[in-house]
Amino acid sequence: MSATYELHGDVAVITLNNPPVNGLGHATRSGVVEGLAKAHADATVKAVVITGAGKAFSGGADIREFNTPKASAKPDLHDVNTALDNATKPVVAAIHSVAMGGGLELALSCNYRVVAPGAQIALPEVKLGILPGAGGTQRLPRVLGVETSLNMIVSGEPAKSEALAKAAGQKLFDRVIEGDLLQGALAFAREVAAAKPLPRVRDLKTPPPASADIFETTRAALKTKARGFPAPLRCVDAVEAALNKGFDDGIEFERQQFEFLVGTNESKALRHAFFGERTASKLPDVPEDTPLRKIEKVAVIGAGTMGGGISMNFLNAGIPVTILETKQEFLDRGLGVLRKNYEAQVAKGKLKQEVLDKRLALLTSTLDYAAIADADLVIEAVYEDIAVKEQVFKKLDEVVRQGAILASNTSTLDVDKIASFTKRPQDVVGLHFFSPANVMRLLEVVRGKATAKDVMATVMNVAKKIKKVAVVSGVCDGFIGNRMLEQYTRQAGFLLEEGASPQQVDKAAEAFGFAMGPFRVGDLAGNDVGWYIRKRRYTEKPNLRYTKIGDVVCERGRFGQKTGKGWYDYEAGKREPIPSAEVQQIIEDERKARGITPRQISDEEIVGRLVFSMVNEGAKILEEGIALRASDIDMVYLTGYGFPLFRGGPMFHADTTGLAKVVALMKDYQKNPNDDTAFWEPAPLLAKLAAEGKTFN
Ligand code: 3HC
Repeated sequence: MSATYELHGDVAVITLNNPPVNGLGHATRSGVVEGLAKAHADATVKAVVITGAGKAFSGGADIREFNTPKASAKPDLHDVNTALDNATKPVVAAIHSVAMGGGLELALSCNYRVVAPGAQIALPEVKLGILPGAGGTQRLPRVLGVETSLNMIVSGEPAKSEALAKAAGQKLFDRVIEGDLLQGALAFAREVAAAKPLPRVRDLKTPPPASADIFETTRAALKTKARGFPAPLRCVDAVEAALNKGFDDGIEFERQQFEFLVGTNESKALRHAFFGERTASKLPDVPEDTPLRKIEKVAVIGAGTMGGGISMNFLNAGIPVTILETKQEFLDRGLGVLRKNYEAQVAKGKLKQEVLDKRLALLTSTLDYAAIADADLVIEAVYEDIAVKEQVFKKLDEVVRQGAILASNTSTLDVDKIASFTKRPQDVVGLHFFSPANVMRLLEVVRGKATAKDVMATVMNVAKKIKKVAVVSGVCDGFIGNRMLEQYTRQAGFLLEEGASPQQVDKAAEAFGFAMGPFRVGDLAGNDVGWYIRKRRYTEKPNLRYTKIGDVVCERGRFGQKTGKGWYDYEAGKREPIPSAEVQQIIEDERKARGITPRQISDEEIVGRLVFSMVNEGAKILEEGIALRASDIDMVYLTGYGFPLFRGGPMFHADTTGLAKVVALMKDYQKNPNDDTAFWEPAPLLAKLAAEGKTFN
C-alpha cells in the first residue's frame, strides 16, 4: 500500500507514501480510496487530512504508468476525485514542497486546502504533451480565476504557494501554515469538523475573465510558440470549457482531450525526454553514494567566447572563477564580452543589477598559472590544436594541486591523448560545452580510459549545479554529437549534387521541425568553421567523401552572414536568406564535373537521409559503447543540436517510424549511385533490432 492510514484522535490522516515524489500510481490511488472509506466507516473520525510523506505532497500521476493498463486500473484518478467529492466528512489537503499535476488535482477535490510556505504549485502536464486530465482544467479556474489558471496550465510553470495564497479573491488555499504542517492541518480539520454543507470546488462558478478575448489572444500567442505541439491549444479549449460548460460537461470535455493527447507521438516524445534527461545522469558502474571531490573554486583557461560562456555558468551558480589568459589584451577583451553579456541581461530586465554585481565579485583574472594552483576544477578552453593543449596540460600538471579535476573543453580531440600529457590521467575528463556555453543546456562529459569514478560522479554533480544536461560519451572522433552531425552534413551536400537546392533542403528540414536547415545554420555559424575541419578530414580520412560544393563556396569567400554571403545572399544589415545565383552555378558545375543528371528529390527523402544517416551512426555509437543508451543520444540532440523536441530525438524518431521501415529506406538510399552506398549499410545493431521488431529505446 503506497498510502498509510493513521488516527490522530478524531482526525484520520492519509499519507501518500510512494517515493520519490508520491506519484499517484495504482497502489497509492487505492490507498486513498480505502483510507476515505475507512474514515467514513469509523464513527469516531470527524475529519480527514491527506498529506504526503518525504519530499513532496505529490508530483502527480505516475508518468511511468502512462500507456500501460495500470494507468486506467480502478480506481483511476477520477474515481479518487469522485470519492473526495462524495465525502461527507471534511477532507483537508495538507500541502508542502510540491503539489503538481494529479497531486494538485487531488487537492482541488478536497473540501479544504492548507499549505506550507514555499510549496511549488503547478499543472505541468503541458510539458509532457498532455493536459491536466483529472479535473485540473475545470477546478483551477474556479478557485484562481481564468487568467492565472490559463497562464499556469498553458505554461506548466510552477507558482509559489505564498504568492498564490495572497492573490485577491483566491479560493485555492484556506490557510497558510507556518511551522509544523501536520499539527496545523489537524487543528484546521478540527475547526471545520462540523461545517455544513461541505464546500466543494465543483460547486463554484468560474468567475468570468476581465477581458472576454483572453482565449483568442492566448491562441494567437501560441501559434508560433507551440509549433508542433497539439497540447497547448487544447489546454486553452479546456479552460474555456470551464467558463462555458457545466462542471460535468467540462470534465467530460477535458477527459476526451486528455485521452487524445496521451496517445500522441508528441506526448510520448516529451515523456521520453523527461525520463531521458534524468536517466542520463546515472552511470551504471558509478555507485550513487560515490564520495564527491569538493568543487569550490574553478579556473578557466582561455578568455575566448567559450571560456567566457563557461565561466558564466559557474558564476551564476555562485562558484568563484579565475580566468587565465596569455596576454592582458586577450583578458581585457574576454572579460569585456562577458560583462557585456551580463549587462544585456540587465538591460532586458532578466537580471537584477545587484545580482550581476554579486556574480562579478566572484570573478578574478590572471596571466599567471601560480594563481590557479589551488583550483578544484580547471577547464581548458583554448585553441583546438593538440600541440596547444599539450602545453596547457603539461603546465597544469606542474602547478595545480593534486586531486584537482583537469578538464578539457575539446570538441574533437582525443581526451586520452590529452590525459597522457599529465602524470594524473585519472583526474582528466572532457567537458564539452556548446556555444553559447552560458545558454545551451547540453554538456558532453567525455570519459577517458583512465578517468576515475569519483571524477565522473563529481562532474555529473557539478553539471546539475550549473543546470546542464550532462551526457556521458566515450572517447571517439567527434564524440556523440559531432560524430553523428558529420553524417547529416555530408548528406546535405550530396543532396545538392543530386538535384536539390539549399533552400529546398533547408525548407524540408525546417518543416520537419529543425529551427534552421543545415545551410542556414552554416551561414549563421560561419561556413569556414566546417571547411577548416573538412580540410583536416581530407588527410585524416581520405575515404570519407564530402561534396566539393561546400569548399568552392568557401573559396569564393562565402563564409555566411558575417561576410554578407554564404549559401545564400544577404542584403546589407539583414538576415533574410536570398537564394544565390552564384551558389546555384557552383552546384551545377559540380554536378557536371561528376556527370550527374539532377533529379527531383522529395522532401521526404531529404529528411530521411538527413536524419537516418545520423541514426545509423548513432547505432554504431551505441554498439561501440560510446553512448550508454539510445536515450542519451536523444538528449544530446534535443539539448545541444536543436533537434525538434516533439520528435523526441533521432533514435526515438527512428523508433516511432519503425526500425524495419528505417532499414527499408536505407536500402533504398543505397540504390542511389551517387551516394556513399557503403554508408547506407544498416549498422548491425539497427539491422538486428529491426529484424526482431524491437526499438532502440
Ligand atoms: N511520475 C513518476 N516519476 C516521477 C514523477 C511522476 N509524476 N515525477 C518525478 N518522478 C521521478 C523522476 O523520474 C525521478 O526518478 P529517478 O530518481 O528514478 O530518476 C525522481 O522522481 C525525482 O525527480 P527529479 O529528479 O525531477 O527531482 P526534483 O526534486 O528535481 O523534482 C519534481 C521533483 C518537481 C516533482 C519533478 O520531478 C517534476 O517536475 N516532475 C514531473 C511532475 C509532472 O509532470 N507531473 C504531472 C504528471 S501528469 C499528471 O499528473 C496527469 C494528470 O493530470 C491526469
